[in-house]
Amino acid sequence: MTPSLPASSPLDPTLSARVQASVQVIRERAPRLNPRMALLLGSGWGSVAEQVQDAIDIPYADLAAFPHLAVQGHRGVLRLGTLSAKPVAVLMGRQHAYETGDAHAMKGAIRTVAALGCQVLLQTNAAGSLDVAMQPGECMVLCDHLNLAQRSPLIGEPGDDRFVDMADAYDPQLREAAHAAAKGLGLPLHEGVFAWMMGPQFETPAEIRMLRTLGAHAVGMSTVPETILARHAGLRVVALSLFTNLACGLANMPLSHSQTLVAAGDARAVTASLVQALVASVDLT
Ligand code: HPA
Repeated sequence: MTPSLPASSPLDPTLSARVQASVQVIRERAPRLNPRMALLLGSGWGSVAEQVQDAIDIPYADLAAFPHLAVQGHRGVLRLGTLSAKPVAVLMGRQHAYETGDAHAMKGAIRTVAALGCQVLLQTNAAGSLDVAMQPGECMVLCDHLNLAQRSPLIGEPGDDRFVDMADAYDPQLREAAHAAAKGLGLPLHEGVFAWMMGPQFETPAEIRMLRTLGAHAVGMSTVPETILARHAGLRVVALSLFTNLACGLANMPLSHSQTLVAAGDARAVTASLVQALVASVDLT
């Protein structure tokens, strides 16, 4: 007997049907909203969702292409509504590769927002800072990444378009828009390279020294697979990290997930206002 594939398998032949079914559920429940921008909120960025007007919530469990979430601080709800007067689809939480070892957990969700007509994916995450000049509570816009987990969500994809060009994976114009938004708010906004480590354990001091040597500025356990998926689906990507800590070995502070959530909670006002200002400034056709 052939073993059945897990629902999120890269080879899952049911994925496109599940994406279509998810689009249909969204269109039925939010018939007048045509989101052109999707937001994927990571740890501690949940306050952004509170700013969404006329919100319609759909649990991921009702969307066949979406993952089932487990990690505290990630909600597993798709919120449709308007943010800064723009129609948006807000993905409140992601499934991480460290939960299953698979990098493609968000494939169906990203394809669903692309099929809905979204042109931009704004991602957010919590990250460790690799430079004491970038302090906890401050944000960074990603200009590039290092896929150090060495996993691709596109394994098993057919066709030449799987060979995605990753130059300018983080859209230069949207990065500029992020800087302009931060400046308008008087907030510091760093720019740098994000290193994806698989986790779920935090890094060792030696790994942090390695990441610094490799030219990374931030380290985290998410975002990179979703960027690859979004670029493959033709979306422009902009990604923001909130530094919740100095990376291991750079400060005398024990790291834990609850510390990440507490530090992120302290930055609620900053993260919400930065995202709102950025969304307001993005031109969508
Ligand atoms: N390392 C990895 N992921 C993280 C960190 C970190 O220091 N902080 C928040 N997410």
